[in-house]
Amino acid sequence: MACSARVLGTAWCFLVVISAKSVPGQQGLVYGLPPPCESQIYCTGDLLKQVQLARLYSDDKHFVDMALRESPELVLKKFQQLVNVTPGGSLSKEQLQMFVSSSFSDPGQEFEAWEPEDWTSSPHILAKISDQKLQAWASDLHAKWKSLGRKIKDDVRTRPAFYSLIYVPHPMMVPGGRFIEYYYWDSYWVIEGLLLSEMAATAKGMIQNFLYLVERHGHVPNGGRVYYLRRSQPPLLALMMDAYLAHANDTQFLRDNIHLLEAEYEFWQRNRSVRIAAGDKNHTLNYYNVRIGEPRPESYSKDWDLAADLNKDARQELWAELKSAAESGWDFSSRWFLSWPPPLPATLKDTKASAVVPVDLNAFLCKTEQLLASFYRILGNATKAAEFQAYLERRLDAVQAVFWNEAAGVWLDFNLLKQQPNPAFYPSNLAPLWTDCFSDQAAVDRATQYLEGSTALRYKNGLPTSLARTAEQWDLPNAWPPLQHMVIAALAKSNSSRAKEIAFALAQNWIRTNFALYKKYQVMFEKYSVVGDGEPGTGGEYQVQEGFGWTNGVVLKLLDLYGDRLTSGSHSSPYCAWIVAASIFLLNLK
Ligand SMILES: *[C@@H]1O[C@H](CO)[C@@H](O)[C@H](O)[C@H]1NC(C)=O
Ligand SMILES: *[C@@H]1O[C@H](CO)[C@@H](O)[C@H](O)[C@H]1NC(C)=O
Repeated sequence: MACSARVLGTAWCFLVVISAKSVPGQQGLVYGLPPPCESQIYCTGDLLKQVQLARLYSDDKHFVDMALRESPELVLKKFQQLVNVTPGGSLSKEQLQMFVSSSFSDPGQEFEAWEPEDWTSSPHILAKISDQKLQAWASDLHAKWKSLGRKIKDDVRTRPAFYSLIYVPHPMMVPGGRFIEYYYWDSYWVIEGLLLSEMAATAKGMIQNFLYLVERHGHVPNGGRVYYLRRSQPPLLALMMDAYLAHANDTQFLRDNIHLLEAEYEFWQRNRSVRIAAGDKNHTLNYYNVRIGEPRPESYSKDWDLAADLNKDARQELWAELKSAAESGWDFSSRWFLSWPPPLPATLKDTKASAVVPVDLNAFLCKTEQLLASFYRILGNATKAAEFQAYLERRLDAVQAVFWNEAAGVWLDFNLLKQQPNPAFYPSNLAPLWTDCFSDQAAVDRATQYLEGSTALRYKNGLPTSLARTAEQWDLPNAWPPLQHMVIAALAKSNSSRAKEIAFALAQNWIRTNFALYKKYQVMFEKYSVVGDGEPGTGGEYQVQEGFGWTNGVVLKLLDLYGDRLTSGSHSSPYCAWIVAASIFLLNLK
């Protein structure tokens, strides 16, 4: 076996990419494909380009969220007339400003204020929280659902061409801040939070919206805008259904929609799968891969600038990779850079997300297979249940063969171009624990030791996203709610007492950070910094956002799990912080 580098164990040495068709960069980028949507205003074309490159607004998302005052045909015709009478065809910033003001209206008007009908003032979770301050805070967060709720105006349904918003029939919770529409993977934690707030009807409506999108578009887009089409996000729809069914006895809803859950799964299998040989066996796994070689409409000028000194092919390649990274939900991160491990001369320009076969994506699809098998069992369809059980077993095999790294004692992303695992620490390396995607129970202790052995546990404000400082938002020093929840929930449900202790310590840290900043700013943020005294997260391509859907959902989940033990923080009880800090220190020593 030709393999010299053994630093990371032996398993990966046997990995060879066998399908040339699947090798990123070699597959002949399909730039002949249509743009994300047909719209020559919101997705592609000269109007979009001229307006976005004129930088009329500080955030490019502003323009593509504006609704049309007249039909798209008329707006495009007027724009063309202006272009025709302008020497060189490039309108001045003033002309563009006037044109946009007369043809478009301000963002956000496609929604109606909506207060959830199933909101009540005291869900049971509140009574489970011993610390008075945390209880009052949970009550505030519960009340926030009333301000994060949105309903789409009927005009969006009857005149969809006037809007970039994709119509869905049921009201929803939005993340907040810049994110005024619904998002895919955010919604999983929002739905978990809603269920703890005993708002099952609202949660169900959100799931119905995603099913509606699968029915019409064949996949769940990244978020509720036409410019997010053809790019999805981490697939958690089956998990949403499972969470809902745990709170509501609604087998009929499952029966009516199982085909759509299956259709979403098929999208990932058909459009996002890659074949890898490990040892003497071929495996099929999934990756994020969006072959659209144009700037992201909502971040057009940034993508344009980033590619400024590249030739046409390299430019399109980079844009496709940025979209692939956006599909991962981790936009952006050194995790997708081709050059690793850090320290990094690498930057965003080195993003090569389609070269990465990610542990977490495959852990989510593994869960989807488990759930579809179990859903079909519930519905009494043994044939289909057996089919998904077989997919699950195939996945377990592949996850073990391709991702499990015996030397590291954890699962690692696999890089197709380097034909190596990525040795860097990411909380996502533990995702198979969360989704029960492993057969050998020894993995629990090994992965726990891996976590203890990394320096990630030393940060008292939360588990960092990576250990690389890049100024990208999915890297050090930022910590994100969904990653805290996945790791905490994974360790908490294990049989290992050590894993459980770490889970609690992490939960306590996270609650303290969130609570302290809530006291200071009266808001919840989308991410937090693990360094310093605790601050909102930083970096990336936009200012940190407040609201915030998944943050609130994760706090409610942790309060549900540990409400009898969690305390509100060092302000009221300095000794507690010491005890937590000391126990994390001791955990690290072992
Ligand atoms: C998925 O693949 C099918 C068949 O190749 C194609 O028609 C469809 O447009 C693809 N969907 C997306 C969202 O890329
Ligand atoms: C199981 O599901 C498949 C696909 O939907 C269907 O063709 C078949 O008739 C179902 N079998 C039973 C027993 O319901």
